[in-house]
Amino acid sequence: MEHSFHSYEPATGHGLAHDPFNAIVGPRPIGWISSRSASGHVNLAPYSFFNAFNYTPPIIGFASIGAKDTLRNIEETGAFVWNLVTRPLAEAMNQTCAAVGPEVNEFELAGLATLPSSHMDVPRVANSPVSFECRKTQILQLQGQDGSAISTWLVLGEVVAVHIARRLLKEGVYQTADAEPVLRGGGPADYFQVTPEQLFRMRRPG
Ligand SMILES: Cc1cc2nc3c(=O)[nH]c(=O)nc-3n(C[C@H](O)[C@H](O)[C@H](O)COP(=O)(O)O)c2cc1C
Repeated sequence: MEHSFHSYEPATGHGLAHDPFNAIVGPRPIGWISSRSASGHVNLAPYSFFNAFNYTPPIIGFASIGAKDTLRNIEETGAFVWNLVTRPLAEAMNQTCAAVGPEVNEFELAGLATLPSSHMDVPRVANSPVSFECRKTQILQLQGQDGSAISTWLVLGEVVAVHIARRLLKEGVYQTADAEPVLRGGGPADYFQVTPEQLFRMRRPG
């Protein structure tokens, strides 16, 4: 099939009703990150510029577009927790993105119960079926192609402890879709939910 393309250079504008960038690179898993400031304030916020980057040791990362509370907390303490966003938790996750001051605890704002972590003084989202306790490994300020600094920081951390709800383990195999994970699409409001019907298998050649 031949395509007729809309082509553009992002630096000079996309020429569309909405920037398609994050609708194209999507749906993305959500980094729902809890952290604590050095002075003790608890924080929780979603980051969809998020992914896993290494197996051994496991490393995950997210981008803070602008210097936000989560970034500052991790700079101060070196610790954070990732919590899986599931369909029952989606609306609460959305509430935790409110632009509130660092003294506001988004767990309380969104009516979310906490569980303690085993390796750090950062709460987990109690109703999230999977959490990773992470220690910061690197914080990289991003650069444009000309080497100029961008006000975006990529926060990378090693997963030092994993908590999985046992119901998601069938004969020792983690069931991705059973967790009903929610992923971020583009535009102001698009999300996707993973269901078991969407599963297909394809093995690597050779
Ligand atoms: C689904 C979702 C994904 C988001 N992804 C990002 C992201 O990748 N990077 C970012 O800087 N902000 C992102 N935001 C906005 C932040 O969550 C928001 O700025 C929040 O107030 C930051 O909280 P904090 O200052 O407590 O860290 C996202 C919001 C939502 C709802």
